[in-house]
Amino acid sequence: MSPSSDIVIVPAVEADAEAIVDLLAPYVAKQIVLPRTAEDIRAHIDNFQVARWRDRPGLAGCVALRDFGDGLQEVRSLVVAQKQSGQGLGSLLVRKAVELAAERHAKRVFTLTVRPNLFRHIGFTEVPVTDFPQKVWSDCANCPKRQHCDEIALALDLA
Ligand SMILES: CC(C)(COP(=O)(O)OP(=O)(O)OC[C@H]1O[C@@H](n2cnc3c(N)ncnc32)[C@H](O)[C@@H]1OP(=O)(O)O)[C@@H](O)C(=O)NCCC(=O)NCCS
Repeated sequence: MSPSSDIVIVPAVEADAEAIVDLLAPYVAKQIVLPRTAEDIRAHIDNFQVARWRDRPGLAGCVALRDFGDGLQEVRSLVVAQKQSGQGLGSLLVRKAVELAAERHAKRVFTLTVRPNLFRHIGFTEVPVTDFPQKVWSDCANCPKRQHCDEIALALDLA
């Protein structure tokens, strides 16, 4: 399972912000990923990687990191365009995010996800969400799903 050779994963640039908002939008509406504004994305653009078509405009996917300090990075804002799904692009984006986290000297990478198997295939294992109190305070507290959370916490230790 490998994504089209017409797709390359590269660091995002500020001009990608609106396209990233559009990629996230259908899954924000379904409460699968957290909303990000274009302004927020531009402010954290160095944390984003995008799957770009070699021969045409538009994005096939994106992924972001969030630095929680002390060597802890979160994989977030993971989305693949519907037409590209099931071809390994999501897994490749997660691997690229883990590579970037390692370059940034992360000791541990975690995610909260409704798609745990994708992360398990990459080596993440299930952990209690209470391992990440900073995440719970910053995002879960305001999340519309907080009373009926269906997300699973997984982590990958890099050290
Ligand atoms: C989740 C999402 C990013 C996956 O992208 P994708 O390109 O379809 O992912 P892949 O093709 O790499 O993987 C597809 C499936 O193959 C499975 N797979 C990956 N590697 C595998 C392997 N080596 N052997 C067997 N199965 C494998 C994955 O576990 C996944 O299974 P799942 O449907 O049970 O999760 C995409 O569907 C999406 O954007 N969904 C909406 C937003 C979302 O859910 N984001 C993540 C939430 S945190």
